[in-house]
Amino acid sequence: MSLMNWIDKRIPFSNTMKLHVTEYPAPKNFNFWYLMGSLAIVVLVNQIVTGIWLTMSYNPSAEGAFASVEYIMRDVEYGWLLRYMHSTGASAFFVVVYLHMFRGLMYGSYQKPRELLWIFGMLIFLVLMAEAFMGYLLPWGQMSYWGAQVIISLFGAIPIIGDDLTTWIRGDYVISGATLNRFFALHVIALPLVLVILVFLHLIALHEVGSNNPDGVEIKKPKGSVPEAEQAKFKFHERYTNKYDIVDAIPFHPYYTVKDIVGLVVFLILCSLVIFYAPTMGGFFLEPPNFQAADPMVTPEHIAPVWYFTPFYAILRAVPDKLGGVILMFAAIVMLALIPWLDRAKARSVRYRSTLHKANLTQFAISFVILGYLGAMPATDLYTFIARVCTILYFGFFIALFFYSKNEKIKPLPERLTK
Ligand code: HEM
Repeated sequence: MSLMNWIDKRIPFSNTMKLHVTEYPAPKNFNFWYLMGSLAIVVLVNQIVTGIWLTMSYNPSAEGAFASVEYIMRDVEYGWLLRYMHSTGASAFFVVVYLHMFRGLMYGSYQKPRELLWIFGMLIFLVLMAEAFMGYLLPWGQMSYWGAQVIISLFGAIPIIGDDLTTWIRGDYVISGATLNRFFALHVIALPLVLVILVFLHLIALHEVGSNNPDGVEIKKPKGSVPEAEQAKFKFHERYTNKYDIVDAIPFHPYYTVKDIVGLVVFLILCSLVIFYAPTMGGFFLEPPNFQAADPMVTPEHIAPVWYFTPFYAILRAVPDKLGGVILMFAAIVMLALIPWLDRAKARSVRYRSTLHKANLTQFAISFVILGYLGAMPATDLYTFIARVCTILYFGFFIALFFYSKNEKIKPLPERLTK
């Protein structure tokens, strides 16, 4: 232990571990949904590690990129595994993050005092989308090229500065090696760095206010409101004890580390099934045209973004006007970021909220999934019509929430956690 003492005299290692791991008071009723944050951290680490190894053999030039990816797949030892771990990891990241966000919506985890935690989450989501978009250009396949073409051209819809802006983003008049080079720099170093910093801030914000839970009631009670004898059982965390009594909590480690490991094993098995048996996931994780080298002279028949962008892409296409579509697509994300202020209900968790709210949240989730499906399909008249209806329902969720939540009739909240 003398080494530990030596370290502790120089950096607060033991104290930090206590505060954030072994004595972090986690509500005792965490369920399946609370696994996703831990999984997101694991996937982030996977992306960084496999990304570093891919970079060792990848060539960021218009002439060499596609061939270098083929080289990784065929000649680099376990290169195929690194690549499939990275491409599957990208999709797994969004699966996990979407479930993580939906949990936040279900249990009102964005409500006071967790607004900033939510905002950091939304910034992570934005950066993650930029990171995935730029990563997709790197293999320099047909979809890399034409997908980027479609998305970058959206900025051209912005009045006055649009054209100059697209040239500035591309670094050229067309998507070229210059574009590939800057996307590589951003994908490999700039955005991962920002992502890691944001995740760090996300966790600091979480541990400052404490975790919410499926009941949506605080485990921190005003000092003195819990009988001494009962409180003694939970007084393992010193940070809050001058102001609060902590109840219904268990230390994050070992209770949730063990629980999370069980979930992690199941998650890794599922990921392995994809990596080893269905790495393209039927064209959803890696699109077929991307196995052909980028060709600026040949447009693929049907250009669709990867599945995790499709709900927003469907909203974009639902609007006949390009600029209107771009605005609405960004508004879809802004609305999510504003939800801590749109939802004015006195209860957090769906468990104690009105039937109206439950129905509204359910229709929101269904509309989002349908939009995701439509965004991957060609824009026929029927599909466009359905996409318009779902877009209205998507925004309707937030607008309705703002109005009914103020005087929403909620069920009586429990004093202490129920399960
Ligand atoms: C790289 C992506 C992310 C990572 C690594 C991450 C990590 C975590 C972790 C470890 C937790 C605690 C465990 C848990 O509650 O699941 C957490 C909680 C939370 N995260 Fe994230 N997160 C990410 C993205 C997001 C996004 C995109 C949002 C929403 C916009 C978000 C919102 C929240 C909220 C509201 C909580 C508190 C939940 C509660 O206590 O009920 N996170 N996050």
